Amino acid sequence: MMEMKCVAAVFSPTGTTAKVAAAVAEGTSLPVRTVDLCRQPEEETLDDGELLLAAVPVYGGRVPAVAKERLKNLHGRGPAIAVAVYGNRAYEDALLELKDTLTENGFTVVAAGAFIAEHNMVRSIAAGRPDESDLQKAGELGEKARKKLDDCKELKAVEVPGDPGYRDKKPGGGMAPHAGSKCVRCGACADACPVNAIPKDAPEKTEKNCIGCMRCVSICPQKARDLPAPVKMAVAGMLKAKCGRPLQPELFL
Ligand SMILES: Cc1cc2nc3c(=O)[nH]c(=O)nc-3n(C[C@H](O)[C@H](O)[C@H](O)COP(=O)(O)O)c2cc1C
Ligand code: SF4
Ligand code: SF4
Repeated sequence: MMEMKCVAAVFSPTGTTAKVAAAVAEGTSLPVRTVDLCRQPEEETLDDGELLLAAVPVYGGRVPAVAKERLKNLHGRGPAIAVAVYGNRAYEDALLELKDTLTENGFTVVAAGAFIAEHNMVRSIAAGRPDESDLQKAGELGEKARKKLDDCKELKAVEVPGDPGYRDKKPGGGMAPHAGSKCVRCGACADACPVNAIPKDAPEKTEKNCIGCMRCVSICPQKARDLPAPVKMAVAGMLKAKCGRPLQPELFL
């Protein structure tokens, strides 16, 4: 039998999804190759012996549209693990949408998980997560998915929650951060933006194609970028009302 490998396709503008994905991948005990979906990936067809691990954050209860488009470049006929990481509000239809996307590309989603991370728009929500216990659960998902594959003769898709009605709805947009007076025009945010929404020669601007992923805010060495203060206050108030008790990871196997 061909040696199995794990291909981790990860969209993680502010790093929490990448942490969870790394723990899931480690749990599989397979050699891992990472595809960074914050950049446009090459179109490729995975070998049947490759296990695809697709990990995305949840935006408005959905898969970020750009991550979904980029995932469409990865085809295959083998197994996949779907992972959604969210900021303690809700993941709604994101896992179902991710499963649908992978299934359309030829994969069979044999395992899935929803994990909680610090909310990257309001960092006091679920601060410090994923924590040790979250990452242990993520490892468990990888380990159990691998065991399932070792034990099964035929790939069988797993059921995940979500309302199929999402398929008729357009995903919502993000909110664009802007640079303030502390900006020293170093260009780091322009280089890091996953959709090239910041002009390198005018980093104080944010173009309309911004998806509100918060990467530029999190990496700016001067802490010069953020959402406009009134927007941030309104989002914080809305989220604090909706994100009460700490939620826990869910595994689907
Ligand atoms: C535009 C946008 C929309 C979001 N929507 C949700 C949501 O619907 N539910 C939720 O719980 N968290 C939501 N979040 C929080 C992220 O899912 C969470 O912070 C995630 O850990 C970010 O992943 P990353 O660190 O890999 O970028 C949203 C964040 C952004 C930027
Ligand atoms: S990373 Fe910060 S300081 Fe550098 S150009 Fe962007 S906003 Fe300005
Ligand atoms: S400009 Fe928008 S899309 Fe680009 S890194 Fe910042 S928040 Fe993300």
